[in-house]
Amino acid sequence: MTVTQTEEATILPHGGELVIRELTGSQREDYLNKAGSLKSLTLNAWSLSDLELIAIGGFSPLSGFMGEADYTRVVEEMRLEDGTVWSIPITLPVTQQQADEYDIGSEIALIGDDDVVYGVLKLEEKYTYDKEKEASCVYGTTDEAHPGVKNVYNKGDVHLAGPVYLLNRPSHGEFEDFYLDPLQTRKMFSDLGWNTVVGFQTRNPVHRAHEYIQKCALEAVDGLLLNPLVGETKSDDIPADIRMESYQVILNNYYPENRTRLVIYPAAMRYAGPKEAILHAIVRKNYGCTHFIVGRDHAGVGDYYGTYEAQEFISKFEKELGIQVFKFEHAFYCTKCENMGTAKTCPHGKEHHVHLSGTKVREKLRNGEKPPKEFSRPEVAEVLIKGMRKNS
Ligand code: ADX
Repeated sequence: MTVTQTEEATILPHGGELVIRELTGSQREDYLNKAGSLKSLTLNAWSLSDLELIAIGGFSPLSGFMGEADYTRVVEEMRLEDGTVWSIPITLPVTQQQADEYDIGSEIALIGDDDVVYGVLKLEEKYTYDKEKEASCVYGTTDEAHPGVKNVYNKGDVHLAGPVYLLNRPSHGEFEDFYLDPLQTRKMFSDLGWNTVVGFQTRNPVHRAHEYIQKCALEAVDGLLLNPLVGETKSDDIPADIRMESYQVILNNYYPENRTRLVIYPAAMRYAGPKEAILHAIVRKNYGCTHFIVGRDHAGVGDYYGTYEAQEFISKFEKELGIQVFKFEHAFYCTKCENMGTAKTCPHGKEHHVHLSGTKVREKLRNGEKPPKEFSRPEVAEVLIKGMRKNS
């Protein structure tokens, strides 16, 4: 099913229309009845989140897991076979042994490790691929220490490809209240009277620098969609449940209620820097955001990408993408200015700027120590300390 542009949204989805691959009513019943007689494949959390994002329109215009032509062109040229910009392959990897079980043309029941049938794949292709090439083209490195590259090397050698249908949506547990699909966010923006909406991607708690750039953007648009990624992240990132509590606390204490909304982005984190900035922008466009924030080292990890590489890269595609990108320089609190700023607005030297690395902050929190209020709102720090204590 494809749903064409509704009146309320002010930005077209990527590719022109939201591609919804979720079955409902009798069609869904029919598939659920026959699922038991189909061969099945158990999806890991990553593939399940990809299935969901394809099906709810978050990954429009994709209608399934990528076939070889799309895959190759995305890796080599950052475009789907039809020329549409797409930066990261969305594939269903399996082992050769698993792949041998399925016949081209057959339907495969896609199940979770809880045995729920989440969807169906119409198998059109099985193909092998070059992992080093994928790593080097998408992640810009073949270093296994890069978490995204490590994942490429660890995944199965064969991609299964073809259109999918979603039969059951995965549960988002305690985050269910903050789950909306792209059709729903588009409607929500319209109901709120927001013509312009800035999307904010994060895999971290919201610190003062994040707050500053979000609020700078909010000065120019009608609303902010705080859209934290809650799928798979690397083990030393702060877990999503702790983050979600911290987002609610900061929004309740420091943001105008009528101009902000918190909605989860149920994807896995790739840490692909510039390429992932583009994927993040595409998804937010599908959710109905007219603007997207790319700050310092967006979706980066370690020293693999330059501080502003993602900004420079996305600039080349901004016109084609259609979503407007707010690019922010490294933001900090300046003790001389006594407020937040960047090199664009603060004349003082680095010695006046409060800067803490992610590692340093996590160390402080683990020791039950609040980072300075110039770095993190005390209410946020409290939630993080409590959460990290509980986890350890
Ligand atoms: S990530 O998803 O991009 O990895 P992160 O939480 O680190 O999440 O950053 C969210 C957004 O805020 C990104 O666009 C990032 O570039 C931006 N950002 C993070 N810290 C700063 C900072 N100090 N100054 C400016 N932008 C920042």
